[in-house]
Amino acid sequence: MKSLPAALFGAMASVFAQIATTTEPSPSDIAASAATTEPYSPVSNVEGLAFNRFFQVWFENIDFEDAAADDNLQWLASQGIALTNLYAVAHPSEPNYCAAAGGDTFGMDNDDFQRVPANVSTVVDLLDTKYISWAEYQEHLPYPGFQGFNYSNQETYADDYVRKHSPLVLYDSIAENSMRLRQIKNFTNFEADLANEKLPQWAFFTPNMTNDAHDTNITFAAKWLRSWISPLLTNDYFMNDTLVLITFDEDNTYKKTNRIFSILVGGAVPENLHGTEDNTFYTHYSVIASVSANWGLPSLGRWDCGANILEIVANRTGYVNSDVDTTHLTLNQTYPGPLSNGKYSEYSPIWPNPVTEADCSAGHGVLDIVKKTYAKTEPTYNYTSPFPYDSKSGYNVGNMARRKELLHSRL
Ligand SMILES: *[C@@H]1O[C@H](CO)[C@@H](O)[C@H](O)[C@H]1NC(C)=O
Ligand SMILES: *[C@@H]1O[C@H](CO)[C@@H](O)[C@H](O)[C@H]1NC(C)=O
Ligand SMILES: *[C@@H]1O[C@H](CO)[C@@H](O)[C@H](O)[C@H]1NC(C)=O
Ligand SMILES: *[C@@H]1O[C@H](CO)[C@@H](O)[C@H](O)[C@H]1NC(C)=O
Ligand SMILES: *[C@@H]1O[C@H](CO)[C@@H](O)[C@H](O)[C@H]1NC(C)=O
Ligand SMILES: *[C@@H]1O[C@H](CO)[C@@H](O)[C@H](O)[C@H]1NC(C)=O
Ligand SMILES: *[C@@H]1O[C@H](CO)[C@@H](O)[C@H](O)[C@H]1NC(C)=O
Ligand SMILES: *[C@@H]1O[C@H](CO)[C@@H](O)[C@H](O)[C@H]1NC(C)=O
Ligand SMILES: *[C@@H]1O[C@H](CO)[C@@H](O)[C@H](O)[C@H]1NC(C)=O
Repeated sequence: MKSLPAALFGAMASVFAQIATTTEPSPSDIAASAATTEPYSPVSNVEGLAFNRFFQVWFENIDFEDAAADDNLQWLASQGIALTNLYAVAHPSEPNYCAAAGGDTFGMDNDDFQRVPANVSTVVDLLDTKYISWAEYQEHLPYPGFQGFNYSNQETYADDYVRKHSPLVLYDSIAENSMRLRQIKNFTNFEADLANEKLPQWAFFTPNMTNDAHDTNITFAAKWLRSWISPLLTNDYFMNDTLVLITFDEDNTYKKTNRIFSILVGGAVPENLHGTEDNTFYTHYSVIASVSANWGLPSLGRWDCGANILEIVANRTGYVNSDVDTTHLTLNQTYPGPLSNGKYSEYSPIWPNPVTEADCSAGHGVLDIVKKTYAKTEPTYNYTSPFPYDSKSGYNVGNMARRKELLHSRL
């Protein structure tokens, strides 16, 4: 379906009893929900090959060169590994956040109020197969599972929390489940989970619109990041076998390649690799694939299936990543789909079907429920490719991807 106008969501609120679909709940409704909605903090300790926890923190709209030139990000890179060849997958923001959870953009080319149907699985379904605890931390979310379009600073009405930067809530497979909603929390809840030693094993962090550079700039955001992360990097409980990915949703110059500066830090990064670079080609989809490879999880059968795997994990599984010739790759826009509003891609009513029969880069095939739901369908795209392409619309066809030579022996 195309995104519905805001007013219609208000009218639909009574139909979807458990889903608050109004775009602007009243302050009194928000206060009432905040008073009655308890955050949920499940814990687990499932050992992974390269890390036991995976946290990602997303910033906004900075070109690679501008981020790489920032003093505070250079300091952070000296504490870990700089990823120099990681690409976002679309413009503007929201399709990138969507991709990070569900392995596809579904053609999204806008920041509208979007909902992905419940028959689409996400990374949390993969984690749930092994009871690996997860959470999302959105700075200044007014209460766990809030589904409004935004929650602004209540004094200045400046942008603060925005739904478009909150990947999990976009998916009905999460938003229709009250237990899952309670795992979408705020930074105050993070401080509590940290203090109570109840951190999850997978988490997605979105700083607010001031701190994530959206309404400021990289100088401001990187300074905020350094002050926020420095105490964490000396906290033994936080650091314990933890891998933290610092990245951006997209670059800032739409005509550029959408390469984004990214850094891996945390106790899971071996000290001899501090201050080094990993130049392997990655996309946002690589992050889902790496989490799957680390914990032996299946794939969503979407673009995570063929995605390259972070070397820190691939080195453990023996997976050989593809070299990708990025010269003509257009990851600054996506292909036609049901979440397009015609801005940068074309609207198509068809929800893409995932691949169900493939080993995938993580090596554990496709999630059972995906196989079952899409049993009698043909995959819409060649999801075993390390980068998205669509032969039908001529998107990213003719790019070169080849396997690296096996330089190191399989473990
Ligand atoms: C965080 O969420 C809690 C509910 O879990 C709420 O009481 C609190 O006001 C929120 N804090 C901020 C800063 O958003
Ligand atoms: C969302 O943003 C709009 C426009 O800035 C504002 O009028 C509205 O009060 C905000 N909603 C909340 C819940 O903060
Ligand atoms: C964003 O959060 C910071 C605290 O981390 C706060 O100082 C700032 O006012 C917030 N931004 C807005 C627009 O409320
Ligand atoms: C960011 O903004 C601050 C304050 O306006 C300014 O001093 C700084 O030079 C800006 N940084 C960049 C990279 O533009
Ligand atoms: C680190 O995790 C291991 C289990 O994986 C645990 O035995 C150990 O106590 C933890 N150390 C700290 C400092 O939390
Ligand atoms: C993406 O880049 C190509 C090549 O520079 C350009 O033609 C196209 O307009 C860009 N897309 C967007 C959304 O800016
Ligand atoms: C992966 O293995 C290669 C070859 O042994 C090595 O050069 C590289 O530093 C390793 N990378 C990571 C992140 O462990
Ligand atoms: C998944 O849901 C969408 C939207 O409701 C629908 O168009 C599509 O046919 C469904 N796919 C399958 C395989 O059931
Ligand atoms: C799908 O992509 C993979 C990986 O790039 C490639 O080896 C394969 O030939 C492609 N399949 C088709 C049918 O094009």
